[in-house]
Amino acid sequence: MAKMEVKTSLLDDMIGVGDMVLLEPLNEDSFINNLKKRFDHNEVYTYIGSVVISINPYRSLPIYTPEKVEEYRNRNFYELSPHIFALSDEAYRSLRDQDKDQCILITGESGAGKTEASKLVMSYVAAVCGKGAEVNQVKEQLLQSNPVLEAFGNAKTVRNDNSSRFGKYMDIEFDFKGDPLGGVISNYLLEKSRVVKQPRGERNFHIFYQILSGASEEFLCKLKLERDFSRYNYLGLDSAKVNGVDDASNFRTVRNAMQIVGFMDHETQSVFEVVAAVLKLGNIEFKPESRANGLDESKIKDKNELKEICELTGIDQSVLERAFSFRTVEAKQEKVSTTLNVAQAYYARDALAKNLYSRLFSWLVTRINESIKAQTKVRKKVMGVLDIYGFEIFEDNSFEQFIINYCNEKLQQIFIELTLKEEQEEYIREGIEWTNIEYFNNAIICDLIENNQTGILAMLDEECLRPGTVTDDTFLEKLNQVCATHQHFESRMSKCSRFLNDTSLPHSCFRIQHYAGKVMYQVEGFVDKNNDLLYRDLSQAMWKANHSLIKALFPEGNPAKINLKRPPTAGSQFKASVATLMKNLQTKNPNYIRCIKPNDKKAAHIFNDALVCHQIRYLGLLENVRVRRAGYAFRQAYEPCLERYKMLCKQTWPHWRGPARAGVEVLFDELGIPEEEFSFGRSKIFIRNPRTLFKLEDLRKQRLEDLATLIEKIYRGWKCRTRFLLMKKSQIVIASWVRRHAQQKRYQKIKSSAIVVQSYIRGWKARKLLRELKHLKRCNEAATIIAAYWHGTQARRELKRLKEEARRKHAVAVIWAYWLGLKVRREYRKYFRANAGRKIYEFTLQRLMQKYFLEMKKKMPSLSPIDKNWPARPYLFLDSTHKELKRIFHLWRCKKYRDQFTDQQKLIYEEKLEASELFKDKKALYPASVGQPFQGAYLEISENPKYKKLKDAVDEKIIIAEVVNKINRANGKATSRIFLLTKNNVLLADQKNGTIKSEVPLGDVTKVSMSSQNDGFFAVHLKEGSEAATKGDFLLSSDHLIEMATKLYRTTLSQTKQKLNIEISDEFLVQFKQDKVCVKFIQGSQKNGNIPTCKRKNNRLLEVAVP
Ligand SMILES: Nc1ncnc2c1ncn2[C@@H]1O[C@H](COP(=O)(O)OP(=O)(O)O)[C@@H](O)[C@H]1O
Ligand SMILES: [Mg+2]
Repeated sequence: MAKMEVKTSLLDDMIGVGDMVLLEPLNEDSFINNLKKRFDHNEVYTYIGSVVISINPYRSLPIYTPEKVEEYRNRNFYELSPHIFALSDEAYRSLRDQDKDQCILITGESGAGKTEASKLVMSYVAAVCGKGAEVNQVKEQLLQSNPVLEAFGNAKTVRNDNSSRFGKYMDIEFDFKGDPLGGVISNYLLEKSRVVKQPRGERNFHIFYQILSGASEEFLCKLKLERDFSRYNYLGLDSAKVNGVDDASNFRTVRNAMQIVGFMDHETQSVFEVVAAVLKLGNIEFKPESRANGLDESKIKDKNELKEICELTGIDQSVLERAFSFRTVEAKQEKVSTTLNVAQAYYARDALAKNLYSRLFSWLVTRINESIKAQTKVRKKVMGVLDIYGFEIFEDNSFEQFIINYCNEKLQQIFIELTLKEEQEEYIREGIEWTNIEYFNNAIICDLIENNQTGILAMLDEECLRPGTVTDDTFLEKLNQVCATHQHFESRMSKCSRFLNDTSLPHSCFRIQHYAGKVMYQVEGFVDKNNDLLYRDLSQAMWKANHSLIKALFPEGNPAKINLKRPPTAGSQFKASVATLMKNLQTKNPNYIRCIKPNDKKAAHIFNDALVCHQIRYLGLLENVRVRRAGYAFRQAYEPCLERYKMLCKQTWPHWRGPARAGVEVLFDELGIPEEEFSFGRSKIFIRNPRTLFKLEDLRKQRLEDLATLIEKIYRGWKCRTRFLLMKKSQIVIASWVRRHAQQKRYQKIKSSAIVVQSYIRGWKARKLLRELKHLKRCNEAATIIAAYWHGTQARRELKRLKEEARRKHAVAVIWAYWLGLKVRREYRKYFRANAGRKIYEFTLQRLMQKYFLEMKKKMPSLSPIDKNWPARPYLFLDSTHKELKRIFHLWRCKKYRDQFTDQQKLIYEEKLEASELFKDKKALYPASVGQPFQGAYLEISENPKYKKLKDAVDEKIIIAEVVNKINRANGKATSRIFLLTKNNVLLADQKNGTIKSEVPLGDVTKVSMSSQNDGFFAVHLKEGSEAATKGDFLLSSDHLIEMATKLYRTTLSQTKQKLNIEISDEFLVQFKQDKVCVKFIQGSQKNGNIPTCKRKNNRLLEVAVP
């Protein structure tokens, strides 16, 4: 399905009329009222045909958003409500699609919104034209040229806080696709007098304030400036700050823009140096100094400022100083130098400042052009945007206003020419007859100003070139002579008597009736400003500057290129550039934006009728409308016309199949519109009177309402019908549901009642059955119980009877037995002796004993004393006998065993027994000794010749001869000794040669000490005071400790009849000479294997570690 396109028209939702051509009736009041009405409804744009009237809203409206751009993009001019975007779109599209160069002429008073309008046009075109990195850069550069030029060329005036003080024409160049390639800017006549002086309430150019507010301290210092407006004479003080303007942030914007446009850092730096120099020039002051020759001479008051300027610009200070004091006039090889008086010096200073600044401005434009110029040589399409100062009428109007107003005259003229031409062309194109119309042609005023012989500008030039004294007054005189008869020139001095008594016209003034009103010009300054003289000394001084930018600004200062011809005057320069501009504009398709200022207060919402009326008049807008309506007020292509009104006729509604023109013809015929009211062009219908159009519109509105009613009617009917049908259907559905529900409910009720009844009946039946069953059961039980009782009774009765019977039988048997016993006893008593029972008993016992012993004999155990076997006991009553028998048997066999021993064996066993008594369970060494036979003489003393001497010395029987270790008391080390025990003595002898070392009688041995552990250490304590005891007790160690101790004990006992004291303790004292040393046994480490070690710990402690 094709997307339905909503066709809109300018005529929809109009406030007043969007196109003044449709105004009915057309007069000044209705015109203003229409504008006012629209202005009050925020409609600031209104058309006159294709011309856009723009009223400055003085506040930002939400009608410039990107969405708006999209809305107006590629739409027909009359399709949407009037907008500057519609005009921009139309211009751009006819440039792109029809290959027609365009120009957009924006005119209006200062503050009417021209510059804003030009920016809107540029931004719209930038938004809709091609995209891409390269294109975007071009766009960006074109757009960013604005802030730079505005900073240097705009200023706050009483009319406008951002008034352009120069004229600007910008050609934007496009390629065949409509992508921007670049641009060229032309500037016209910067108002340079503003540099040195500003009217009350106005400011100098923005850039001065921006530098002082926005530059960093460091940068200011570089430029030798101070952040203080009051320090500079050129800055008017009364309105240095402008409300809503942030100079500091604007400065950053400007620097950024300069960078984007392509200024190099050093270029930017130079530009600001020149600006600083201009500012500082204003601070140079002069004082008069009389010379001897009577001539006045000036001198610079304070040379400090001059010095800084020279440092900043690289000018030789003496050169500049001289240029401010002298003037050299060169004429035909002659050089005449004259001094300058104070006034002349100030004039020279200001002229220099103005020239520096205005040349800097032109340089900036050239520099920007260099950056934005199109890079290709291909043919370009051009769109020119002209934003030139508007018509100016001040209290004091001077040369500048004259020039500006002249320019506006020219623009007005071209406007009239082109509008008429375009109108005529359209009529021809459409094949419609052209009727002539009256309008005011301002060519006569242009002629008054620019005529080559009698024009005011020509006369001013003539005056400036004339030799002799030339003043503004002589110029006025000349004007009075030449122009007196011109109907647009007024002067008091003119011969024309009309103004002789006109007191509103001072003597030093002349007045011109411009198309926009009368303007009175003060003639003072005209000559000077037209001359625009800069003393050659100054331009030469500038050229000598060591500053490339300043040098470039003053090429005429180059002595090599000295030119004695006068430079062209300001007036003639301007005239020439305006002429070029006009020529340029004439080759292009014009688009007009006519800006109107609603009030003088720069305020929103205020619409000053008188002020607007004045502007409408001098802009000739009414005439514009009249021209446009000359033949036919309204025209429209056939297709949109048919589309809009086709509902007014049956044949064309709803569809017309055929050419649109035929459709429109049928339509108009049907509607009965008088034939003189319209005309059929080639592609458009022309309607003579707006009334006809409005009639059509009314009919359309009426018809639309009827159609709407019809649609509404049908729709309502349809809606009601469908609703009814729906309701009916719903009703049936609901009813069926309700019925079903009711039936369901009833059925449920019946069903549940049936169940209740049924359950009652079943219950009743069941209970009845239960009752019967219970009764039956009880009957059965009763019968059983009765039977049981009956059987019980019978059984008990029988039992009782049987018991009775048994008792009786038993009693009979007992009685019988007794009786029988009695009878037997009586019978046999005579056969038994009284002690027979005892004899039988003893006999039986004897038999048993006999049997026991015989059995024992068979079971006797072996004769080994260690055999533990013994037969089990056969009868309990023999228990003690059995045990006793066992003991006796054991003793007997031990005796038997002992009886086998020899004497020697007996001795050995005695000794072993002795040892057991002494050491069993006391010393850990003991169990190991049990199995060892006690040998006594381990050393063969008598056999070994080595011990012959020892043998000889001991004549007694040797009981023990053995090698022992004697423990050295000093260090615990052991030495081998031969230990001998005889019947009476204990001897210790050298092991090697048998020399006796000590001999102790047994009576002197008091005690033997040893540990309880598994070691062979022992101490032999000697009686105190005995001879042997002088060397102290012996501490010895032997493998046969148990045997030696036992033998020592026994020998002592048999010899002295005294028991030797054997002490078993793990800690005992040993007497060493004088001291007593404690010998202590500890469970030691396994360090030395299984051998106990002895160590002297200190004086009083000997430690024996036992494994
Ligand atoms: N379309 C607009 N919307 C909002 N404000 C505007 C518009 N046009 C102009 N202005 C306001 O009016 C002031 C003057 O406009 P400007 O274009 O500088 O006037 P001109 O160039 O005609 O002297 C602007 O600074 C701005 O505040
Ligand atoms: Mg402007």
